[in-house]
Parts: sequence; structure tokens; C-alpha cells
Amino acid sequence: PKINKTARKTRDFVEKMRETDKTVIFFYGSQTGTAEDYAARLAKEGTQRYNLRTMTADLEDYDMNLLDTLPANHLAVFVLATYGEGEPTDNAAEFWEHLVTGEDLPEFSRDDYEDAERPLSDVHYVVFGLGNKTYEHYNAVCRRVDEKLTKLGATRIGDRGEGDDDGSLEEDFLSWKDDMWKAVCDFMGIDFFAGNSGPRQATYMIQEHTKEEVEALAKVYFGEYQEPKFLVGSRPTYDSKYPYPATIPVSRQLFSATAGRRCLHMEVDISGSGITYQTGDHIAVWPVNAEHEVEKLARVLGLTDKLDTIITVSNTDPGSTKLPFPVPTTYRTILRHYVDITAPPSRAFIGQLTPFAPSEETAKVFAHWGQDKEAFRLQVADARRSLGTVLEKILGPGQTMDIPFDLLIESVPRLQARYYSISSSSKAHPTTIHLTAVILDYKPDVVPDETVYGLATNFLHNCHAHINKAGAIMPKYEISGPKGSYLHGDSGIKVPIHVRHSNFKLPRNSALPIIMVGPGTGVAPFRGFIQDRAADAKNGKKVGATVLFFGCRREDEDYLYKDEWPELIKDIEGAQIITAFSRQPGMPKTYVQHKMNEHKELIWDLIHKQGGYFYVCGDAKNMAREVNHRLIEIAMTCGEMSEEKATNYIKELRGRGRYEEDVWS
Ligand code: 2AM
Repeated sequence: PKINKTARKTRDFVEKMRETDKTVIFFYGSQTGTAEDYAARLAKEGTQRYNLRTMTADLEDYDMNLLDTLPANHLAVFVLATYGEGEPTDNAAEFWEHLVTGEDLPEFSRDDYEDAERPLSDVHYVVFGLGNKTYEHYNAVCRRVDEKLTKLGATRIGDRGEGDDDGSLEEDFLSWKDDMWKAVCDFMGIDFFAGNSGPRQATYMIQEHTKEEVEALAKVYFGEYQEPKFLVGSRPTYDSKYPYPATIPVSRQLFSATAGRRCLHMEVDISGSGITYQTGDHIAVWPVNAEHEVEKLARVLGLTDKLDTIITVSNTDPGSTKLPFPVPTTYRTILRHYVDITAPPSRAFIGQLTPFAPSEETAKVFAHWGQDKEAFRLQVADARRSLGTVLEKILGPGQTMDIPFDLLIESVPRLQARYYSISSSSKAHPTTIHLTAVILDYKPDVVPDETVYGLATNFLHNCHAHINKAGAIMPKYEISGPKGSYLHGDSGIKVPIHVRHSNFKLPRNSALPIIMVGPGTGVAPFRGFIQDRAADAKNGKKVGATVLFFGCRREDEDYLYKDEWPELIKDIEGAQIITAFSRQPGMPKTYVQHKMNEHKELIWDLIHKQGGYFYVCGDAKNMAREVNHRLIEIAMTCGEMSEEKATNYIKELRGRGRYEEDVWS
């Protein structure tokens, strides 16, 4: 498509830096908001401590072909998350394709290079990656971007940073950034040690509206998101920035009443929304914070009486126009819908609150928890305490503290969507998306007398209770969020969602056999897969063997979709469900991988001789690893291979897309 001049211009970040007098730009590739949050924190710290002129930039908002025009005394910082099988985030996909995976050498915009092979030889950069060691392609995106930038002539100043979300991402980030600032100061010719820690400069201003002003406002936001500008008038696309509020025609409980735990089956309606999905994709659910958390925090902040005051938040820096959420809005809406007050606050934020402590003793606690990793871990991170709870713990019951609200907006990450594997087939259910979720609660090891409730699943449970009224088992964790918000209208409760595409897909040729391993809610995408194959079989297509290994605690308690399976598989030839029960009274503890052993000849036949596909969904850390190991053993015994050969064989299966995982940690 032709891009007109003004559109082109707004996508020119170098031009924008010139106009707004910036020299350091923090690009982020972010899916759930963490990388974006890190970029914002770095930009802010650069301005405050080192007097640098910084800005943040969403990679998809700018034309990265112009990277070669970045002046030599400027700096580009990349904060990049890696997803799943070494993939970039959606907003970095175009940049990734342009720079790294494109077929030809990436094209840039200048034509006066000294060395045509090295178009970026004037460019200086730094990179930090967010990844997860549970996955094979740890931090692949930041590593490959780094490699490519260097290859194209750019100079990295300082070390590449890598954070592990499975360990302590925040700690990795904190320890990397001090050295990074040292390198940046050297590059910019600034004295690192002179770093000023003068009074805080606010990023945002807050204006409380008078009654008269409120009357003149065209719209006030109560939890909804702003439609992307260019979409006004046309049909919006729903993505990680703009969810679709869907109704929930069906919501029911899947576990027996005696199970002690709860699992929900929900169907959300997407008809008329323009949303489509494919079997194996993920659905994102945008949760709402619990009202008692909102009120607890408001109490500590002395905001109780002002919760519903209508306010506008704006940038103090006229050069930046991006706000973390749409305005005008209310304090309550911000705390309920837009910022993550339920997750434990970061150590950096706790430390930052020290100057606002109401007494010397409490200041000491803020400083201590902000500095001492162990104290922070025991009291905040591993205790999974919310911001309000942490503040109450430090201040004592009933005490208040004057934290500037703009500091809170700036430092508390935005509330993020949670992803679930879709448990329906788009062939069988094109206009509804099914999701299967266990309601999460647990007692942290470090504070065993406290209970932590998973936010999104408990939000869903609240929606479920609302829909089913008296028939529902009441949630233990009361959220009541949808009530009074934009999610609670005349047509009942709505849940904000969007769809994320995944690579977890059935073979194109339905005649190929498939083996699926999915204990617990890991079975979700396989319900979709089997529905898909059943639909194919009904339509007269040839469908290959379809084998599901499912594991749960007890046959009579948490055997998901137990009553559905016989009907579903009856039309698929050679379909079978092999179960492993781990807590069946009077029976030995059995896991899916034990059952794989019993059926190793079948597995080998389908995978090796018939060219079948192998799928795993569920817990990444133990189950998926053990299943992988078991498959290697099967290759060794049934295929008479050495361990090395078998390991390579399984690796190759993965490389060919015939061993796919949809796992979480
Ligand atoms: P358990 O909780 O009794 O140990 C779904 O959660 C099922 O997966 C349960 O039966 C659970 O058993 C089982 N499970 C737990 N750890 C597992 C592992 N490492 N591999 C396979 N299954 C596991």
C-alpha cells in the first residue's frame, strides 16, 4: 500500500527525535507489557539521573528502514522479548522480518554508505532481552538482533543483557542496567558518578475535573480501551492493545463437586466481531482487579473519597504523547482496570517509595526491602503479596501514605492479558471460542498461612457466578469488578478478549496420524484438535490415527470432558484416549509418560513408520521435559538407536515441525 507523506513522516523516529530534541531512543518489542515497562523505566531513569534526552518507541509505530539515518552521537536501545519457539512479539514481527529473517539483506534508506555491506556503521546501540530458560530458544530474538546489527556495521556499547522470566527477570534487569548506564555515560561523555539524584521529575500530570468540566467532556473511560485512531469508522481489529468485550453464552463447571478444586468451561461469542481463529490458537483474557484490592490501596493512599472523581492524566513532556491508558477516567477505573496492583510490586518500586515513608522506621523498611534481595523475596516476591498488602504490612493497619499518584501510574506495570489455549475447533465452532481453566489458588511456601488467588481465573470464576446466579459455586475470591464497569451492561457480563495466533497446528494432511499428550488443562487444545478431526471425518476426509494421552488425579473427579470424548471420537478410525490417574484410590500413581511407555510400540509405529505428528501441552518444567525424555527412550528401544542418535532423531522431529509444544511454566 502507498504510504502518504504525513504517515511516512510520523513513522520517522529520527525526525521525531530531532523535533523533540531527543538523543536516546528506547525501542521495545513487547507482548504483555513487561518489555514496554522496562523501556519506559530506562527512558525515565536516563532523563532523571543522567540528564539524557530520551524517548520510548513501540517498534511497530516506526519505520525501521530509517535506522541507518540515526546520527552517530545518538543511541538506540532495544528491549526485546522472545516468545515460544524463539519468536518475536507481535509488535516486533515486522522489524524482525526486515532485519533478521528476510530473504535478502535488509534495505535501508540512505545511499551514501562508505561500505555498502555495513549500512549501519554510524549506529550505536544497546540491547536487553526478556526470555525464559524453560524454553529451548532462550532469548533468541535479542541474540539474533544483536548479531545482525553488529554484522551490518552497528556498534554495541556495553554488554548485551538477558533476563530469565523463569528465574528472576527483574533481578537480571537491575544488575544489567547499572553497567549499561556506565557504558552509555561513557559514550555520551557524561560523568556517570555525577548522576543527579535531585528531586523527582514527574512524567505525568493529573488534573481532577470540576463538575462543570465533566459536563463538557465527550467521553469518560470506565475500563474500556481506546480504539486505535486509524480504525475509527472501519471495523477494528482486536489485538493485544485493544480487546473485544465478548458475551459468555455458556459457562459451566467441569470438576465434580468433591474435587475440591474448580475448573471452568466457558464459551465466548465472537459472532459479528470480525474475530476469527484457528484450532490451536490462544485466547487472551483481560482480567479486572478485585474491588477489595482497589479499596485497600485507595485507603493506604488516602484516596477513598476521591475514587470516583473524574481525572485526566497527561504527559509533562510535551514531546511524548503516549499515555498508558485512555483518559479522562477515574482513580477507581485506573486501579481496577489499567494497572496491575494485584501482582507483587517490583523491588525497584519499593525502594523508590522510601522518601515518601511517613516515619523513619517505615523508611528503613522500604529501603531494606528495596535493597535486600532476600528480604524482598520473602516479604514480597515469593509471598506473592499485592501492592496494597505490602504497603499495609510496612505501615501497619489503618496508616496512610502520601505516594504521588503519577508515580504509581509510572511505576506499576499495566494490567496484562493472560493467554489460554483455545479448547474448541474453529471448524466445529467458528463463532464461539471455548476455554478451559482451573481456578488458581495456592499457599506460598514462604507464607503458608496466606492464600494467593490467580487473578484472571478468579475473574472468570466471578463472571461464571454472575451468569449462573444461584446455580453456581460461589468464588472464594470476590472480584465484583465487572459490576459497575463497562463490562456489565444491559446484555449481561462481558469478558474482554483477543486472539493470538500460534504455531501449534494440526498437520495439513489429515490422513497423517497424531499423538497428543495433555494432562490436566493441557488437554484444552487437543479437544479442539479432536473436534477438528471429527469434523473432517464426518465430511468424508481420510483421518489418520488420533491418540490422546490424558492424565488427571481421579477418574471420578477431574477427568476433563469425560462424557464428551466417546461421542467425539466415534467417527475417527483408530482414535483412542489413554488415561493416567495419579491419585486414584487403591491404584499406583500413574502419569502420562508411564502410559507412553506401555504404548511405546504404537507410538513408534505412528511417529516413525507412518510419519505422524507429536504434540505436548501443559506444564513445561517437569511434564514436557519428562515426555521428551521418554520419547528419546522409545526411539532407543523401538528404533534400536544409541542415546545420541535418538536425541538427534527427536531434535530433528522438532526441527521439521512434527514435534510441537504448547507449554507454560
Ligand atoms: P499429581 O498432581 O497427582 O502429581 C494433571 O495435573 C495431572 O498431571 C495430575 O494427575 C498430576 O499428578 C499430573 N502430573 C504432575 N506432575 C507431572 C509430571 N511431572 N509429569 C506428568 N504428569 C504430572
